[in-house]
Amino acid sequence: MADGRDHLILALDVEDLQEARELLASLRGELKYIKIGHQLYARGGMPFLREIITQNYFLFLDIKVHDIPNTVFMAVDALASEGLWGLTLHAGGGRKMLEEARRAKEKSGGGTNLLGVTVLTSFDEASWEEAAPGCALSDALKARAGLCRETGMDGIVCSPLDLPVVLSAGKGLFTVVPGVRPAAAQDDQARVATPEKTLKAGAEYIVVGRPIVQAADRISAVKSIIKEIEEGLKWKNR
Ligand code: C5P
Repeated sequence: MADGRDHLILALDVEDLQEARELLASLRGELKYIKIGHQLYARGGMPFLREIITQNYFLFLDIKVHDIPNTVFMAVDALASEGLWGLTLHAGGGRKMLEEARRAKEKSGGGTNLLGVTVLTSFDEASWEEAAPGCALSDALKARAGLCRETGMDGIVCSPLDLPVVLSAGKGLFTVVPGVRPAAAQDDQARVATPEKTLKAGAEYIVVGRPIVQAADRISAVKSIIKEIEEGLKWKNR
């Protein structure tokens, strides 16, 4: 039977390591995938990541690596041997950068999924025009998803609304989708979809942070998101 836990990634976006540890302890057994961003990586570094990995979680390090190809090679070389499940890179770094990331991953044994970030979902048309004058945001999205496919990335991170373009230009790569909200919830994420809809639209994994982290009852928040995911999976597997 489909297990919704295989498709849910918790964004562990909390202030400090102690709070993160307490949250993980309170959710033990309910989740398999944890995403760490810049904040906890800065506070706890690799020792903290190892601590989570030894608790048998799949660890997704979301630091969107973006630099010259040689530097990215060295960064991925160092990170990919640490037993991470996934690592994000900016597809805006270009073909050579992504190829070097792939080469470093292979050198380290190949266990870490490399996930391309195409265009940050925080851009709207106006701020994108300012950063990349004359280039349509949709063209950049399509081109970068294509680059991820051609350079051998394993997956792509994108908003629910970008799934159709990404699934076509990045054919064969799996998708990881933040900006997902349980049917009942509402907050500041503007470009959102429900877990069930996101799975039905072709996402492999959904990323959820605040609807779980800030819930009065976190375990029931996780359970109800997993239930919604399983509805989407039932529909997909029918
Ligand atoms: O709390 P919330 O569910 O909105 O958290 C979403 C997580 O996904 C955050 O960690 C955020 O940094 C991340 N994310 C995002 N949009 C992207 C990439 C990552 O919201 N394009």
